[in-house]
Amino acid sequence: MPYQSGNIAIRGRLLWFAADPAVESEAAAVKYLEDGVVLIKDGVIAEVGEGPALSRRLPAGVPLVDHRPHLVMPGFIDPHLHMPQTQVIASYGAELMEWLQKYTFPEEMRYGDSAVAEAAARFLFDTLAANGTTTAGVYCTSHQISAEVFFHEAERRNLRMVAGKVMMDRNAPPGLLDTPETGYEQSKELIAAWHGRGRLEYAITPRFAPTSTEAQLEATASLAREFPDLHIQTHLSENAAEIAYVAAAFPWSKDYTDVYERYGLVRPKALFGHCIHLSERERAALAEKGATAVFCPTSNLFLGSGLYDLTASRRAGLKTGIATDIGGGTSYSMLTTAAEGYKVLALKGQKLPAFEAFHMMTVGNALAMGLADKIGSLEAGMEADLVILDSRATEPLRRRMERVETLEEELFALMILGDERTTVATYAAGRRIYDRYMARSTLAPKLDQMPYKTVDSGGASQQ
Ligand code: GUN
Ligand code: ZN
Repeated sequence: MPYQSGNIAIRGRLLWFAADPAVESEAAAVKYLEDGVVLIKDGVIAEVGEGPALSRRLPAGVPLVDHRPHLVMPGFIDPHLHMPQTQVIASYGAELMEWLQKYTFPEEMRYGDSAVAEAAARFLFDTLAANGTTTAGVYCTSHQISAEVFFHEAERRNLRMVAGKVMMDRNAPPGLLDTPETGYEQSKELIAAWHGRGRLEYAITPRFAPTSTEAQLEATASLAREFPDLHIQTHLSENAAEIAYVAAAFPWSKDYTDVYERYGLVRPKALFGHCIHLSERERAALAEKGATAVFCPTSNLFLGSGLYDLTASRRAGLKTGIATDIGGGTSYSMLTTAAEGYKVLALKGQKLPAFEAFHMMTVGNALAMGLADKIGSLEAGMEADLVILDSRATEPLRRRMERVETLEEELFALMILGDERTTVATYAAGRRIYDRYMARSTLAPKLDQMPYKTVDSGGASQQ
């Protein structure tokens, strides 16, 4: 691939956010250069400036890639997805608890095999890059090897990734269970091996309260105390049956959030997936402790979990990230995710303007993950993770753009109609990790190898 080096200059329509457009004026929040250049040195943004001027005084030997008229944005950030669910995505007809038992847990059992995990990690990173996503918060499985393989592949690609080995010691098949002791020990080994190495960070990852005993949550509490700066990721208040189970299994708890509070898991850099059915008390407790709620719209619609309440979160001062939740979620695209988020909020009588959505997908998610000093905006000193977007990539988009008069209208149509086809290129630390022209040429030979299999009608086939 050309331009492998992290020394490069990129020209295009630069767009990033200096503040949250939901809070600040458009003038203060939206940074837009109609013709700008991002100068990258050793994978970090060295300078951002006006295209005509900066392109004339580039350091000798730095190649300039002219992406005009395309948009140049910080790479998308996806704060919640599951590496081992790329082959259960789009599994038919179940709500959360049945979906886990019927499809997800049997699939995750396969990830004790390093070859299975390696194939999944490669597929995942290729697919995220094709969708313009450069950072993710990732759940591996309960197998230590699945996280080893994930981090190894992320390091090879020099990606900024946050991930952890899932801890779960009950309510799943034996092949997927760890114990309070092994969950603790293996997490510690992974932290020692990978946290802070290159651009990798470890997340303490108890799957959710229904799959951990109190003994395991105690062990998780110890880890959280020993590593106060680490991310924590888990699920919270997604589904009615899940919430009822938690109330019965932890009869001492005030509510679901209280279980995590009891074990010291509600704190800054703690990412709680879903947070749909929270009480005001729970929102206030999460907000007060600096935790983040992660809105997963395609998953919430697909599993019929419910409609996230962004207004209530904002009123409580609770930070919200937005994520795909592959494979309860149904799209790898953050654009599609935002589009479905818009529709979920419309059903709640709420709004998601385009500037707010693009803020969320970039620096908003960086803030939600505690990474905004490294990624999420186009400022000198930030890591050069970028996505180049073509808002006229498809015929429906081209036709729509003929009637667009403002940047905000363009972005809204892009988010509603866009997906991986709108990604022109993706850069990680200044290195091109995806290019649509190359992707098209390598995709073509695969089209005649369609691996259709006959599905036994007694099995988990579509109905
Ligand atoms: N709750 C616990 N595990 C999961 C999972 O894998 N996906 C979703 N959507 N919710 C969960
Ligand atoms: Zn999830």
